[in-house]
Amino acid sequence: MATKFLILLGLLAAVSLAASDCGSKYFQCKDGSKCVIAADRCDGRKECRDGSDEEGCDVHTVALRVNATIKARMQFAAVHENIELHLCGAQSCSNVLLWGVRDDGTLIYTADTDANRLGRGNSRRVTFNTAGSGNFTPGEVVLEVQHRPGQLAVWRQGRPDDVAEVPVEADYGTLRVRPYVWSTDMPVQFAAAGESWPEEFFHCNDDRSRVPGVFRCDGNSDCSDGSDEEGCDAMLAAHEVALPLNASATARVQYAKVHNDIEVHLCGGKNCSVVLLWGESANGSLRYDTATGCTRYGRLGNSVKENRGSGPDFSPGEVVLEVQHRPGQLAVWRQGRPDDVVEVPVGADYGTLRVRPFYWVADMPVQFTSGATTAMSNS
Ligand SMILES: *[C@@H]1O[C@H](CO)[C@@H](O)[C@H](O)[C@H]1NC(C)=O
Ligand SMILES: *[C@@H]1O[C@H](CO)[C@@H](O)[C@H](O)[C@H]1NC(C)=O
Ligand SMILES: *[C@@H]1O[C@H](CO)[C@@H](O)[C@H](O)[C@H]1NC(C)=O
Ligand SMILES: *[C@@H]1O[C@H](CO)[C@@H](O)[C@H](O)[C@H]1NC(C)=O
Repeated sequence: MATKFLILLGLLAAVSLAASDCGSKYFQCKDGSKCVIAADRCDGRKECRDGSDEEGCDVHTVALRVNATIKARMQFAAVHENIELHLCGAQSCSNVLLWGVRDDGTLIYTADTDANRLGRGNSRRVTFNTAGSGNFTPGEVVLEVQHRPGQLAVWRQGRPDDVAEVPVEADYGTLRVRPYVWSTDMPVQFAAAGESWPEEFFHCNDDRSRVPGVFRCDGNSDCSDGSDEEGCDAMLAAHEVALPLNASATARVQYAKVHNDIEVHLCGGKNCSVVLLWGESANGSLRYDTATGCTRYGRLGNSVKENRGSGPDFSPGEVVLEVQHRPGQLAVWRQGRPDDVVEVPVGADYGTLRVRPFYWVADMPVQFTSGATTAMSNS
């Protein structure tokens, strides 16, 4: 059995806001009753009858005292539209809303004061720097954020000459980073200036312990409070699509370094086969492991074939995979690389495709497009 599958013993994830039937700009209430404009998620007002649009809002925050600087690394997807930074006190916040980057490389942004404690409500717009147009490119965005006396200052890493600012109150000291359209999560990691990014751990809800990210949603409780296995069914469901025999699908994956590897599962009622994609080898071909007879979480199992070679992980950003359920096999390749296919044997009853990150400590948004079901030759 490949070492990596032994490590895989555990795994799981953090904040995942499920893709829903409501469309990409909407958040679906947990009770399924309503679609809420995703920009209104976590605005301090309950739009869902069950209040689920205001749950899980205290995330992506970190302390930022006067004269402190921090780095924030986020995985931006087009659906998020804009990136918001809030510096907050107990009751109110000042915001910088980053719209994108102009052709000349400068930031397009607005700045607001007097927002509510979630950076929403009747705020006051103090800066309107929106001439020109340009969005952020999907993928990794790294910002530096500084709490100057009376000001919040934000710039992109490597562009300290292009700073967006907003006035802040004396008691403000908590930074929040969120996507404007919060229908799917935007993974965010913070690190002190000059420090490297935190390791890939899942922080248990007891606030004291942590377990390797690979243990999240593996079917075993590893946190003493079991929080590494909470919410997994919904999270897994948000990363799944039906893939019956002879059907194909495209999976558009927003990959971040923190995810380490990309996993593709084809599952039946009790078991799954797994393709674990490590990245690329020096000649550009896929590095991978495959396994059959895995649990329904895609863990354990028997390693079938591996080509780990050596080479880099995937580059942060969008990775587009083509997936086909061939008779007795799952086939996976990168869009535009049909010459480089990874296959793993699958059971006769398998028909659910799942794409998940190896380290599920931050969500890895995945969008599926179903292809046609065609009779196919097993080539
Ligand atoms: C922050 O820095 C300024 C000068 O740059 C200094 O006057 C002020 O005392 C510092 N404040 C704190 C709380 O460290
Ligand atoms: C299915 O997974 C279980 C573990 O959940 C394992 O014990 C069993 O051997 C697997 N079955 C097959 C047919 O691979
Ligand atoms: C690329 O390298 C891998 C080993 O990492 C090897 O298995 C594969 O055959 C190579 N492909 C080509 C086209 O040379
Ligand atoms: C799938 O394709 C194979 C080979 O083209 C064909 O023999 C088989 O009947 C097809 N099965 C279904 C369920 O479409």
